[in-house]
Amino acid sequence: MQPTRQQAFELLKTYNKTPGLIKHALAVEATMRRFARHFNENEEKWGIIGLIHDLDYEKYPDQHCTMTKKILEEHSWPEEDIRAVMSHAWDICTDVKPENLMEKTLYAIDELTGLVTTSALVRPSKSILDMKPKSVKKKWNDKRFAAKIDRSIIERGAEMLDMELPELISLTIEGMCTIADQLELDGRLAQ
Ligand SMILES: [Fe+2]
Ligand SMILES: [Fe+2]
Repeated sequence: MQPTRQQAFELLKTYNKTPGLIKHALAVEATMRRFARHFNENEEKWGIIGLIHDLDYEKYPDQHCTMTKKILEEHSWPEEDIRAVMSHAWDICTDVKPENLMEKTLYAIDELTGLVTTSALVRPSKSILDMKPKSVKKKWNDKRFAAKIDRSIIERGAEMLDMELPELISLTIEGMCTIADQLELDGRLAQ
């Protein structure tokens, strides 16, 4: 049976208490929803996959993805959903290659939401609401900025989607803007 958004969010909160991890899940969900609308796909399903993709990360960082698979199986999640979640860490901790549009999108935007967040937080306004893709691109090229974010994964994802980086960044910003308040990227953190 297809899990509901509420079930997915409850499960996420059972395993994750760190606000930063919850925000990451919400950012990826909102971005997946934006891309689903762009591609005319199932927004609810794409959002749920985004929301749950890092389920095990707080409790089992050393068994990332393996434990998510186990937990989702215990909750009788559909096999194709579990496969999609696993594919976000292809070549990092799984050998599940992104194949369909939803999987390729998740792969492409997961790290990018992090780069968009850090790019917004160094702005004086600390807001994503009026941020242009250009400011993210500038940070992209500064290799010391958010050095942990692997740009090559995002590039590989963009290639899979056959999408130029500016469009990928633009849609990601648009998605995250829809929940800027929940992400605290609406300017409230500016002094
Ligand atoms: Fe992950
Ligand atoms: Fe993630």
